[in-house]
Amino acid sequence: MAIRKIREMGDPVLNKQCKEVTEVTPRIRELIDDMFETLYEANGVGLAAPQVGILKRIVVIDVTGEDPLLLINPRIIETSGEQEGYEGCLSVPGKTGYVTRPNYVKAVAWNENMESFEIEGTELLARAICHELDHLDGHLYVEKVSGPLMNTEDVEEQAED
Ligand code: NI
Repeated sequence: MAIRKIREMGDPVLNKQCKEVTEVTPRIRELIDDMFETLYEANGVGLAAPQVGILKRIVVIDVTGEDPLLLINPRIIETSGEQEGYEGCLSVPGKTGYVTRPNYVKAVAWNENMESFEIEGTELLARAICHELDHLDGHLYVEKVSGPLMNTEDVEEQAED
C-alpha cells in the first residue's frame, strides 16, 4: 500500500470524465487500498480515483473513520429532501463553501468482487456520495457553492470531503 499524491484544483485530471471499471484486477485492488490509505492519511471523508490521477469510476468514503465504503461504477438511483451545509474537498485544501445537497441518496455500485449492491445514506453520507460521484464526472463542489468560497479556519461547521 502507498499514499498517493492528491491532485489539486487546477489540475486538468479533475475535470475529466472517468471510465467505467470493467474488471477488478489486482492493479485496481492495489489502487483501492492506496485510496483508503490516502483518505485516512489526509483525514478526509471521501476520495475519488481522479483525485489521485486515475480516470476510473471508483470512490472510497468513510464518514466515521470506522465505516469504509467502496463504490465502483456508482450510480445514484434515488434522492430526496435537501440539506444545506459547508463542504470541503481534499483537492481544494483550506477552503470550504456552502452547498445544498439531497438529504437522502440511494446508489447502486459494485463491491470489489464486482457484485452489485445498493447503499442508502442520509446527511453526511448522502452529501459525501453526491460530492464523490461529481468527481467522476469532472465536477468539483466549488461549482455548486452558494456565496463565497471561504477559508476553512473561518468556518466552524464544515465537512471535509
Ligand atoms: Ni472532493
